[in-house]
Amino acid sequence: MSTATQTFAEKIAKAQDFLPINGTDYIEFYVGNAKQAAHFYKTAFGFQSVAYAGPETGVRDRASYVVQQGKIRLVFTTAMKSNHPISEHVKLHGDGVKVLALWVDDAYKAFEETTKRGGKPYLEPITLQDEHGELKMSGIFTYGETVHMFIERKQYKGAFMPGYEKWESTYNPTDTGLLYVDHCVGNVGWNRMLPTVKWYEDVMGFVNILSFDDKQINTEYSALMSKVMSNGNGYAKFPINEPAEGKKKSQIEEYLEFFEGEGVQHIAVATNDIVKTVKELKARGVEFLSAPPNAYYEMMDERVGKIDEAIAPLQELGILVDRDEEGYLLQIFTKPVEDRPTLFFEIIQRKGAQSFGAGNFKALFESIEREQAKRGNL
Ligand code: FE2
Repeated sequence: MSTATQTFAEKIAKAQDFLPINGTDYIEFYVGNAKQAAHFYKTAFGFQSVAYAGPETGVRDRASYVVQQGKIRLVFTTAMKSNHPISEHVKLHGDGVKVLALWVDDAYKAFEETTKRGGKPYLEPITLQDEHGELKMSGIFTYGETVHMFIERKQYKGAFMPGYEKWESTYNPTDTGLLYVDHCVGNVGWNRMLPTVKWYEDVMGFVNILSFDDKQINTEYSALMSKVMSNGNGYAKFPINEPAEGKKKSQIEEYLEFFEGEGVQHIAVATNDIVKTVKELKARGVEFLSAPPNAYYEMMDERVGKIDEAIAPLQELGILVDRDEEGYLLQIFTKPVEDRPTLFFEIIQRKGAQSFGAGNFKALFESIEREQAKRGNL
């Protein structure tokens, strides 16, 4: 069977199973002010308070706030002093993702299997204990300074992990319908996509399930290349982007310049009702990229065929729609969530489709370029 006619399920079946992954455990951001970042994600995105670690819980050098919505768990961490690796990270990159943590059954074996295949150690396996049980963790570096942590929590019943206390807040905004992390995209430098893809294949046992070259992803001005890497059950999907030559500066180059290195470009989070979720996020102040021109919606029936949703609310909110062999998907992208034009979020609702919205790339990139132009970076 040729690659083109294989379903995603058939493609990921080729992944190696030396690193079983149950899903994303958490995503940790290093930020300048974790208290305020946590407040923003509670207020604007509807995350709920879960756990806290800091001087009051015996952690002297940092403060961390854990928030959760559905299965999505985010951690915001700030160092207490300038002379600290977390402060160095924030100085160089601004607020951004440091850790993409994966939920595994065996953190010791995950470390052993990945490091023997060439993974660079970040954290040797350790067992943490408190009155709620024990949690095992280890970690390796991936692109840039980003880390994959392996978390084994089957013997742990506490709020998050030892060192953290349950965070009971009097401020609990309602959720916005976000369910789980669908995929996390990394931006890498020139000629770095193929080595990064090979790293995911060799070290993590992932497979490449989808590829786009600069002929497919381009606008009048800029271009990029992308390859989607997945583990064997599809619970961990990491697309990798590399800039490509265009008339003007690619959005990936802009990211690399302002993040000052390779790193996480966007986190896609799933919902079962994208219209309701996006209306709620907008009402709470989350900023989205501008809607594509009216022609995009006028041609929708022709391009994607029948869908369950009414077009008018999609058009009003600027939600994009794409179809593949297995179904369709709805998606929309926020503006960067920091002042540096780096990390942003994608809200996605899948209705059968397992792909990533390639049919929307042109409309999406033109919208991003309008923002780049406003920043003077196109
Ligand atoms: Fe995406």
